[in-house]
Amino acid sequence: MLLEVRDLHVTLPDQGQQLRAVRGIDLEVPAGETLCLVGESGCGKSMTALALMQLLPRNAKLSAEKIRLGETELTKLSERKMSALRGRKISMIFQEPMTALNPVFTIGDQLRSVYRRHTGANKQEAQARAIEVLESVGLTNAAVRLGQFPHQLSGGLRQRVLIAMALMCEPEMIICDEPTTALDVTTQAQILRILKDAQDKRKMGMIFITHDLGVVARIADRVAVMYAGRIVEIGPRAAVLQNPAHPYTRGLIASVPRPKDESAEGARLASIPGNVPAFHREDQRCPFLSRCPKRMEVCTREAPPKRTRHWDQHVFCHLPLEEQEVQPA
Ligand SMILES: Nc1ncnc2c1ncn2[C@@H]1O[C@H](COP(=O)(O)OP(=O)(O)OP(=O)(O)O)[C@@H](O)[C@H]1O
Ligand code: SF4
Ligand SMILES: [Mg+2]
Repeated sequence: MLLEVRDLHVTLPDQGQQLRAVRGIDLEVPAGETLCLVGESGCGKSMTALALMQLLPRNAKLSAEKIRLGETELTKLSERKMSALRGRKISMIFQEPMTALNPVFTIGDQLRSVYRRHTGANKQEAQARAIEVLESVGLTNAAVRLGQFPHQLSGGLRQRVLIAMALMCEPEMIICDEPTTALDVTTQAQILRILKDAQDKRKMGMIFITHDLGVVARIADRVAVMYAGRIVEIGPRAAVLQNPAHPYTRGLIASVPRPKDESAEGARLASIPGNVPAFHREDQRCPFLSRCPKRMEVCTREAPPKRTRHWDQHVFCHLPLEEQEVQPA
């Protein structure tokens, strides 16, 4: 297994209390596969990604039984060793492209320095590699682009530069946090293709965070659905998208307009009533309890069991498997 995560928790100070942003997550990503992480805003997707990179805000606390990348246990590494891995073995494309690029350095400075730091290459070698990678992510006039500053590029070009930066050292694992959300549909499709091509060439593992189930349908091998700091359902793409079992996943998928509903009236999004709760104290009960249309008495008392369907689809819910088969009306 390329990446293996067990019992990951992240807490953050929040107005004198501790916000439990990630509450005991297990994940696995084999080489060459894409795991999509989906869920409503604030459910802990970015905190999960930052925890894996060991780039959490300074005041955050991380605990995990295991975060293993290949043969390396990341929770036991010093910051010096971790920063030697970051960018080389595991890279991240951040949710905010402008904050991830330094406005006072040229694109070339930033790409070359990542490469030289990790490989010891000289300036000419780093320059050649930067041109090669920029071309591979679809930038024309790469040599000219290297002399430009981030603000001189459009959003789509900046996002390509960020992908190039993440790919400079051919990492084994890449984490993409909503890399295409701000882009138009055509650019988004091109970026997804570039990432997929890079992945296929090197058998890179990928975690892809997105709100967009259309993107999930195109690129995921497996899908993990997060809710209030927990994974509520995880399984192969086709199983989760076509036969969702957890009431939350079913609500999410029902809220996406289907092609047959494209008339103005049918295109209305269904929405799940209520908001995602924030957890400050540990609570083993189902995180979806306060909004669940299927809630039962047992849900108010006991932690939801892990139920496994065919095809390696795991669902954390008290509903018996037969009931989970029933599709929403
Ligand atoms: N720097 C911070 N300090 C304190 N709390 C934070 C900080 N950043 C995020 N949070 C809180 O942590 C929780 C998880 O946030 P996270 O950014 O992981 O959500 P997300 O799933 O990535 O959402 P989005 O889809 O909006 O990006 C949220 O309740 C958020 O308000
Ligand atoms: S465990 Fe209970 S409250 Fe939670 S999703 Fe299942 S039925 Fe709903
Ligand atoms: Mg986020």
